Parts: sequence; C-alpha cells; structure tokens
Amino acid sequence: MSIDVARDGAIAVVTIDRQDALNALDVETLTELRDRLRELADDGEARAVVLTGAGEKAFVAGADIKYMSSLEPEQAKSWGALGHEAARLLEAMPKPTIAAVNGFALGGGCELALACDIRYASSRAKFGQPEINLGIVPGWGGTQRLARVCGIGVAKELIYTGRVIDAEEALRVGLVNAVADPVLDHALSVARELAAKSPVALALAKRLVNMAPGGLEREADEFGDLFASEDAKEGLAAFVDKRTPRFVGR
Ligand code: COA
Repeated sequence: MSIDVARDGAIAVVTIDRQDALNALDVETLTELRDRLRELADDGEARAVVLTGAGEKAFVAGADIKYMSSLEPEQAKSWGALGHEAARLLEAMPKPTIAAVNGFALGGGCELALACDIRYASSRAKFGQPEINLGIVPGWGGTQRLARVCGIGVAKELIYTGRVIDAEEALRVGLVNAVADPVLDHALSVARELAAKSPVALALAKRLVNMAPGGLEREADEFGDLFASEDAKEGLAAFVDKRTPRFVGR
C-alpha cells in the first residue's frame, strides 16, 4: 500500500509510503493519492486532513525522476495534470489540509506541501524546487504557489537556483508556518483544534482566503449569508452565554 489513510477521530492522516524511493511519486502512487484525496474531499466525517511521508528521511523527494526520464511531451502533460489534480484537491477541498513535512520535500513534494493550507516542518526537513538541475521546471503548481506563499523574489531565487533550504530558512522565508518536533504530533494537535471548530465557517474561510487578493466583494456577501447557519448562531450565542459552543456543521 503506497498511500495509507488512517483516522484519528475526525482527522484523516494521509501517509505517502514509498520509502525505497524516498516517497517519490510514480504514476501508481500519485494516482492513488489523487483518489484518496477525492474521497476525503467528499467525506463529511473527515474535518481536517494531515499529509505526511512515511519513514525518517522524506516527506516526498519529488516526482519519480526515473519515470520522467522517458516521457514524451504529451505524456508529460498528462503527468503534470495528475499532479495538478492532487494539489488542487489539497488546496480546494472544503476542509483544512496540513502538511507535516518530516524530511525531504523536494520538487513535487514541495509543491504538494505548498498546496496544503498550513505547513509544519520537522527541524531536519529540507525544501526545494530542484527541477532546474534536471533541465525542467516545477510542473505541479510550484511556480505559482511558491510565489504566492513566499513572494516572487524568493520563488524566483529558489526555482532558478534549485537550492535546497533547511527548516530554519523555510520558516524565515514563510514557506512553513512553524518548525516543531515531532512534526506529526504538532500537526495533529492543530488538526484536532480545527476539527472542533465550525466546519461551515472553516470551509467558507478557506474558500475566501483562496480568492485573495481579489475576494473582498465576495467576503462582504458571504459573511452575511453565513449568519443563516446553525453554527454561527451557536458560536455567537455561546460567547454571550459564557459557554463552550457545540458546532454541528450546518
Ligand atoms: N525519483 C526517483 N527516485 C528517487 C527520487 C526521485 N525524485 N529521489 C530519491 N530517489 C531514490 C534514489 O534513486 C535511490 O534509489 P536507489 O537506491 O534505487 O538508487 C533512493 O531513492 C534513495 O535516494 P538516495 O539518492 O540514495 O538518497 P540520498 O540520501 O543520498 O539523497 C536526495 C537524497 C533527496 C538528496 C536525493 O535522492 C535526490 O536528490 N533526489 C532527487 C530530488 C529531486 O530532484 N526531486 C525533484 C524531482 S522533479
């Protein structure tokens, strides 16, 4: 099994497990990842998703270079589209996604982490878009999402040089939200915190933030609509009553 999905209450932990290749993604593994993410996007029981890599060394060491070495342009387009699909699911599914980066997050691995809503790194994690050294460029969203997350200046330097950075530098340039050991425990504790909040409000928050910087009008509109939800009534009333809210997801 190259993709394992485990449940911890309302949290789904997706583990990429292809350790003999440092969890690099081949067609089979990436297809399975895409399929599991599709299921989780529609799964009302899963309120937050944590993505991580198996073993001590790697989150994901990239797309499988051996596989890519024989691709013709049309095949490479399909391969790119599959990676885009997986990344888009992480970015757009109506619940928080958290990358727990436990080692190498290179190339496609860095791109999958960038597609998650939140990134945490272990102190020995390493990040980079080294595609330039293979004569190619990032193809699963890295040119856009690295620029969005870290700014165009940082994105161009990392993508042009292919330089691999450590967790401390990743934190400094805003590529990760925090460095924590053990990183999976930290990601799970945040996921648990998020799973207790209103899923309706979280889904809307995600949709609106994903529209940044162009979503001001939509926010003004959707903010109002949200007041029709049971969760908004409950959250506001609970504060006034000085009690803990109980969110039902409606
Ligand atoms: N695709 C396919 N196989 C990969 C891989 C990838 N992206 N990354 C690592 N592997 C494989 C290696 O080929 C090796 O397999 P082998 O034992 O059959 O030769 C195995 O994983 C272990 O990797 P190895 O290079 O021996 O480990 P290391 O600790 O010396 O180096 C890295 C680790 C991550 C620095 C190195 O593996 C590397 O540079 N990988 C490619 C990273 C990359 O360019 N990713 C972007 C792809 S677009």
